[in-house]
Amino acid sequence: MNVLITGHSSGIGAGLTKVLLANGCDVLGISRGRWTETHPNLYQETVDLQNESEVISALSNLVHKKLKKPNLIFLNAGVLGPIASLQNTKNEELQYVMQINVWINKVILDWFLEHNLSPEQIITISSGAAIRGNFGWSSYALSKSTLNMLTQLYAHEFKKSHLLALAPGYVDTKMQSVLRTKSSSDFPSLEALHQAHGTSRMPSPETLAHKIIENLAKFKKLKSGSYFDLRTIKS
Ligand SMILES: NC(=O)c1ccc[n+]([C@@H]2O[C@H](COP(=O)([O-])OP(=O)(O)OC[C@H]3O[C@@H](n4cnc5c(N)ncnc54)[C@H](OP(=O)(O)O)[C@@H]3O)[C@@H](O)[C@H]2O)c1
Repeated sequence: MNVLITGHSSGIGAGLTKVLLANGCDVLGISRGRWTETHPNLYQETVDLQNESEVISALSNLVHKKLKKPNLIFLNAGVLGPIASLQNTKNEELQYVMQINVWINKVILDWFLEHNLSPEQIITISSGAAIRGNFGWSSYALSKSTLNMLTQLYAHEFKKSHLLALAPGYVDTKMQSVLRTKSSSDFPSLEALHQAHGTSRMPSPETLAHKIIENLAKFKKLKSGSYFDLRTIKS
């Protein structure tokens, strides 16, 4: 199986890369950085997702030159943006977060449609922040709720693929370490994250990756384009 992962260089994307390579898959990774080790089944493209033409050449390189058609896609790369009131968030900060968390995914999905490629499964990595609307999650919450709708809308256009916007729950990554530097007295919703650190409620990226991969078939039973919180899965 060929798996395309954006943001494979760290956190959840790196966890997925490790587990999928161990399962014998070919991984096609797109990030600015590289995965920690080289591996014969890992094909990496070093790209900044702000740069749409670089992303298109990376896709073309992986799929056409390396002849690796993805069966599964994880649109996982994401940035947090400022944790701040919306009033104190500048439009340029919002636009950057929207570009990385949402619009580049449209570029990638359009490329697949234009090339008549239908991966079996496309998973966009969403967040509980997409639906909670807690104070301070400004650009991130807006981007993830738009990502949910983007996933729902593309489900109509990818007739042969199954799409899902998946909220992974708390995962112990760089993004969480940034959140731990913010005060829960300024942003009360952070208290739950601070409390979860170091417990089973905030698993490692690798543990999370196992859970995602074990449940890929179950996800396909959900309506294509829907949003699903992994924490609610019944084993
Ligand atoms: N951790 C959590 O608790 C949690 C919870 C809910 C949802 N999520 C979502 O999970 C996804 C992964 O986050 P994470 O927690 O694993 O964070 P992370 O460790 O910070 O990883 C983010 C990944 O995105 C890539 N990325 C960011 N900006 C990029 C850019 N401009 N160009 C190319 N790649 C870029 C990074 O690669 P480079 O820096 O090498 O470019 C990195 O591989 C995100 O969509 C996040 O919103 C995380």
